[in-house]
Amino acid sequence: MTYDFETVVDRTGTGASKWQHMLTANPDVPAGISPFSVADIDLKLAPEILDGLRDHLGDVVLGYTVATDDYWDAVTGWFRQRHGWAVDREQIVLAPGVVPAFNTAVRAVTAPGDGVIVQTPAYYPFFGAIEGNDRVVVRNQLVLQDGRWRFDLDDLAAKAADPRTTALLFCSPHNPTGRVWEREELEAVWRIARDNDLTVISDEIHFDLLMPGIQHTVFSTLNEDAAARTIVCTAPSKTFNLAGMATSNIVIPNPELREKYAAEQGRTGFFTLNALGFQACRLAYTKAEGWLDGLIDLVHGNHELVRSFLAERMPEVIVYDLEGTYLQWMDFRALDCTHEELKRIHEQEALVFFDEGAMFGPEGEGFERMNLAAPRHAIAAALERLAQAHGR
Ligand SMILES: Cc1ncc(COP(=O)(O)O)c(C=O)c1O
Repeated sequence: MTYDFETVVDRTGTGASKWQHMLTANPDVPAGISPFSVADIDLKLAPEILDGLRDHLGDVVLGYTVATDDYWDAVTGWFRQRHGWAVDREQIVLAPGVVPAFNTAVRAVTAPGDGVIVQTPAYYPFFGAIEGNDRVVVRNQLVLQDGRWRFDLDDLAAKAADPRTTALLFCSPHNPTGRVWEREELEAVWRIARDNDLTVISDEIHFDLLMPGIQHTVFSTLNEDAAARTIVCTAPSKTFNLAGMATSNIVIPNPELREKYAAEQGRTGFFTLNALGFQACRLAYTKAEGWLDGLIDLVHGNHELVRSFLAERMPEVIVYDLEGTYLQWMDFRALDCTHEELKRIHEQEALVFFDEGAMFGPEGEGFERMNLAAPRHAIAAALERLAQAHGR
């Protein structure tokens, strides 16, 4: 099967939030410009999903929906085949999204006033899930070692030792830095979690998006203790561009922890699956693997292009290795622009609408996150506009 990874899908006026934000930032953007911000994909949907949904819609009744055997087989089959991860269906709690899930998890496993650790810069809804639920954000800032983002384990251990700190809201692969944590790094984090009895809420939504040669380890598979203290949040939404389908699979091997999570989620009144989302997930996990492999090739090539282009035309910009996700983290600080200047040059002159680093916490100031899940020619054109707007 050959896939179309070339067509720019113009989502103006379709309700696509990313495109809407772009037009709010700059109402004069001409047609054909992609935004490169929010983490969804500006490409056609995998035909296997689209055709499957069309068939399904032929005589569908969109009533209250529960998971079917073939849904569970699709999800557990995907985990097994793509990640070597054996999951029993009983261990999975369905949720309407990973953001709702980690909000629920924070409430389920911590008490108001507790500290929850996040590794910063961090996916911005992490802060909301903690502060919005009257818990306290405990920052464990990532550090650069030889150009690679790493955990500061001494700082993590010191913060975890505070008895008021009871959970770690963990991001693996890491958004926004694009790191895929190695097994040894995960084990070091796990030892600190075990020694201080932290529950680990592990957001692994990007875990299918691995660049060639990179391995991901699911946190709960490290060992029995890790399995017992971890809530793993997964979804097909980043991988297959199904975020609007509001369907995610939360894996909680420990029955007590699962019960706590399910009870808290029950209090939100969520009880029925999205009738199309669950079909889309099933189709994605059983039929669209070839499309995903093509997407990964595209993103990897886009990353190489960004790196080589900027090395030549804007060598002050640091482009970090992309190990996972389709989100490119870049350091623009050497350009010596204020935040406002950078925003103006990018959005009003270059017509690029990256997610500003400061969204991920003050640790991200002067950085930018560029979404690489777009056609190669759109990335190339954006880079050219970027360089010219900076006078290069
Ligand atoms: C780390 C991370 N978690 C969760 C989400 C969104 O999850 P959902 O759309 O399932 O709520 C994103 C989207 O970018 C993300 O990067």
